[in-house]
Amino acid sequence: EAIEKGGFEHFMLKEISEQPRSIADCMRGRLDAKGGRLVLGGLRDYMNKFQNADRIIITACGTSWHAGLVAEYLFEEFARVPVEVEYASEFRYRNPVINSKDFVIAISQSGETADTLAAIELAKEKGATIFGVCNVVGSSIARATHAGSYTHAGPEIGVASTKAFTAQISVLSMMALMLGYQRGTLPESTYMQLLSELESIPAKVEKALKLNNQIEKIAAQYKDASNFLYLGRGYNFPVALEGALKLKEISYIHAEGYPAAEMKHGPIALIDEEMPVVFIATQDSSYEKVVSNIQEVKARKGKIIAVVTEGDQTVKKMADHVIEIPMAHEAFVPLISVVPLQQLSYHIAVMRGCNVDQPRNLAKSVTVE
Ligand code: AGP
Repeated sequence: EAIEKGGFEHFMLKEISEQPRSIADCMRGRLDAKGGRLVLGGLRDYMNKFQNADRIIITACGTSWHAGLVAEYLFEEFARVPVEVEYASEFRYRNPVINSKDFVIAISQSGETADTLAAIELAKEKGATIFGVCNVVGSSIARATHAGSYTHAGPEIGVASTKAFTAQISVLSMMALMLGYQRGTLPESTYMQLLSELESIPAKVEKALKLNNQIEKIAAQYKDASNFLYLGRGYNFPVALEGALKLKEISYIHAEGYPAAEMKHGPIALIDEEMPVVFIATQDSSYEKVVSNIQEVKARKGKIIAVVTEGDQTVKKMADHVIEIPMAHEAFVPLISVVPLQQLSYHIAVMRGCNVDQPRNLAKSVTVE
């Protein structure tokens, strides 16, 4: 096992650290920005269905569902197609309205999640086209779908999903760019620009990983907290959900992820000097709004840990801690901004003496409903 961990203390840390490579592996042979080339073999025979779909329905569970939420923003922004993101466990039991003009994307690391599999079968019965985004080759979901693209993240052993999440977003980003280009909603020049933005992500994740020591120090200060709030907007809203899920599952600290603007509709009542609030406040179209949300938390004496874009000056003046990540196009920021949140939960869990790779009550794949 020590050999498999490759010198890391835990699989989770190894898998967090592998992300520059796993994201690059996911894009290898598919994306070539210089050549203006983007190919997903699995889509070849289904491009017509994808392009002409009235609606995209994404179904998944847990972290994979969070990747689906990021995809909702991507598909709607780049391809102007309506998207619905469904928890597989709800979708399968509610007699959903679905037909042959729907293109369903099922996302699953393991490819064995029972609820996701059942959602696929239901959508299939109703005549929809089902596309899988799976990590495990030959898994049940990979076999049950009409077509799919593997995430090529390599085996993920830690129960808390990390590199599979960023690989899922990488595949979904490529799908959104292809769709936008084919549907004519992304002009050629923007498309070319976005291809190189996406291609530049692994190097930026590599840089973000270097923040590990700083994050370990922040973890030491907050390891005994009883609650955490994670707030983000736009593309960083699903990242807030994912950050909170990571902390819950491995450190057993209660955490909630929220869209930052929803805070005033309830969670703001929780804020006092004991409440650490993690903001994902990178430079993007909702930055100014997030800054005012930070002010609201500060006014109530919450402790602010902010993930910001390198060189940020405004948030630095307000936050107790700033974690500076490289600048990227806002659509691809989740691939980077999630990394310090994975590291934060990892270090807190280690300091609390938790079993990081195999947290209590959790299994790597949930094969029961
Ligand atoms: C993630 O850290 C969780 N352990 C869990 O939410 C997981 O993402 C979910 O069970 C879905 O699994 P899948 O991707 O293998 O379908």
